[in-house]
Order: sequence, then C-alpha cells, then structure tokens
Amino acid sequence: MQILNTYILAIESSCDDTSCAVLCNNVVLSNITANQKIHEKYGGVVPELASRDHQKNIVLVVQEALQVADVKFEQLNAIAVTIGPGLMGSLLVGLSFAKSMSLSLNIPLIGVNHMQGHVLAHFIKDNKSQEFPKFPFLCLTVSGGHTQLIKVSDYLGFEILGSTIDDAVGEAFDKAAKILGLPYPGGPLIDKFAKEGDSMKFKFSESHVNGYDYSFSGIKTSFLYFIQNNLQKNENFVKENLNDICASYQNHLIQVLLKNVKKLIHDTGIKQLAIAGGVSANSELRKQIKNLEEELTIQTFIPKFEYCTDNAAMIGITAYYKFLNNELSDLGVIPLTRMSI
Ligand code: KG4
Ligand code: ZN
Repeated sequence: MQILNTYILAIESSCDDTSCAVLCNNVVLSNITANQKIHEKYGGVVPELASRDHQKNIVLVVQEALQVADVKFEQLNAIAVTIGPGLMGSLLVGLSFAKSMSLSLNIPLIGVNHMQGHVLAHFIKDNKSQEFPKFPFLCLTVSGGHTQLIKVSDYLGFEILGSTIDDAVGEAFDKAAKILGLPYPGGPLIDKFAKEGDSMKFKFSESHVNGYDYSFSGIKTSFLYFIQNNLQKNENFVKENLNDICASYQNHLIQVLLKNVKKLIHDTGIKQLAIAGGVSANSELRKQIKNLEEELTIQTFIPKFEYCTDNAAMIGITAYYKFLNNELSDLGVIPLTRMSI
C-alpha cells in the first residue's frame, strides 16, 4: 500500500543547536530550534556543555515541534536524526532519543548525514511557484566545519570536487571575530559590521591551493598578524576601524570562495549553482552569488535564511528522500564524528 502523506519527525543535535522539525512529505509543518547561549563566553563550542544542554532541551523542543505541526505521535511514519558529522556527545543525545522514539512507536529510524541535509534544504517546498535546482547542480557548502564544492547528481548522489585542506571558512569568520574581541559565533557579527564598512580599505594574503580545494588557515594567521601589527602602532586601531576591517576581511573570504566556484562552473559547464550551510546566511555572500547569475549566465539557488544555519527541517527533507528510496537505519547505528557526504 502506498502512503500518500509521509509524516517525518526529524532531530538535529550535531553541534550546539537542539532542533526538531515535523514534515509532511517535502513541506515543513514545524521547525523549532533551541540555540545554546552558554558557549558565547568561551569563544567557541564547549562539547561537554553542548551535550548537557541538548539533554535539557530535547524533550521540550520535540514536544513543541509536534504541537506547532499539530501532528500526533500515531501519525508519524518515521523518525529522522543526524548521525554525523558532529560532536560525539551532542550526536549521542539526539540519536539515543530518536532510537527510543523509533522503538516505542515501532516506526523506522532514518540516520541522516548533516552535510547532505544542508544541501537538500533546497528541496523544502515553501510555495507553489518555487523552482528547485535541477540535477546535476553545483553546491558550495560553507559551514563551521566544512567548505566544499559538491556536484549533486541526484537527491542522494553527491561528489566532492573541492574542499578545504585545513580550516573551514566558518572558522575563518569565527576566529577573526574572536581576535577582534567579538563573542562566538562571530560570523553574523562580522556580517553586521561589514555592512557599514569599506571592503577595499585593507588587503589580506591569499593561499594558493591546487584544483578546486581551499585553505583558510594561512588567511586566519595573516589576519592575526595584521591586527597585532596595527595595534602596536595604534591601540585604538580595532575600535576606530571595526567596520572597515570586517568588510575587507569578509570580502576577501568571499573572493577566495568565488574564485574556485567560477573555475568549476567554467570547467564543468554546469549552469546551476546552490549555496548551503551556516555561512550561506552571510548577506554579502548571498548578494555576490546572486550577481553571478548575470555575470556567468547561470541560475543560482540561495536557501531561505532559517534553513542556512543548523536546523532539523533539512534533516527531515533528506530523510524524506531516503524514506522514498527505502534507505532506513537499524537500531544499531552509531554516531560518527567524521562522515563523508
Ligand atoms: O551550518 P552551521 O550552522 O553549523 C555547522 O554545521 O558548522 O554553520 C555555523 C557557521 C559558524 O561558523 C557561523 O559563524 C557561520 O556559520 N555563520 C555566518 C553567518 N551566520 C552563520 N558566517 C558569516 N555570516 C553570517 N551571517
Ligand atoms: Zn551545519
């Protein structure tokens, strides 16, 4: 018997956001996220504190997601959960919870790769006239842990064509923000200050890497030296130039990202480009990606703001396609801190 409407409850707890979503097919009925503020004062995510907060939040977040969706336990057809990549303790909380739901409701468990989730967020249906990317398309996936150029040939067919050989671009944003004395996560704050700044005022070094790969570790270090040197000459340098520093550094990171994107579009001839992951929330990156439409006569896909940073809706949509493909997990599935797309 074919199920007409598939209801999936999805849980995401790979890092520091506890999120639960309920989907009916490819439509999101609810998407509730509890952000953890506790890490701000430490300048980065503290894994042990993250898993404890997930434990505190998960029941409330799941209850609220069901309530907002107006869906009962008995209506659910499957439980989806992120199984990696991510922090071991954080993943364990979500996965253990999902396993017990799957067992007690006697419905399938679907383990989802977090990075596949970021990419497939583009297939969440929001309105009638919406256009989805067509296969194959290219996706620039930019988050706190990943920077990848991916060829997506099917809902579940991914090929990495380029990736960072050291730090992710999200780390390059967050580390620079920390050097500037801004709280974690610094990416959104750099974005905010950059809006008022001159992106041409300061120049930063570029790393040279082969093919379509990236490297951000040297850029991060050169930023540190740049700030230290200038502070020696003028102790108010950061205070007096914050907007210009943010705008110049942000623009530099974006130019580095776009260089390989353009090369890849040229070499593959693929005319559809998507962006995904937390850094795709960056307003200037969104603008510059959109500008490529005219420059390269391509079509671009930019996710809705709420589906850029970590959320369970993207896990739910991925699980929906896995469900249709009968790719289910057994209860012995374990979390993986590292996991290739
Ligand atoms: O995908 P995500 O929420 O979590 C991971 O899977 O890592 O990405 C988090 C990253 C952080 O580095 C954060 O600073 C960055 O996304 N980020 C931004 C912006 N919003 C989030 N970076 C630049 N500009 C933003 N507006
Ligand atoms: Zn993420």
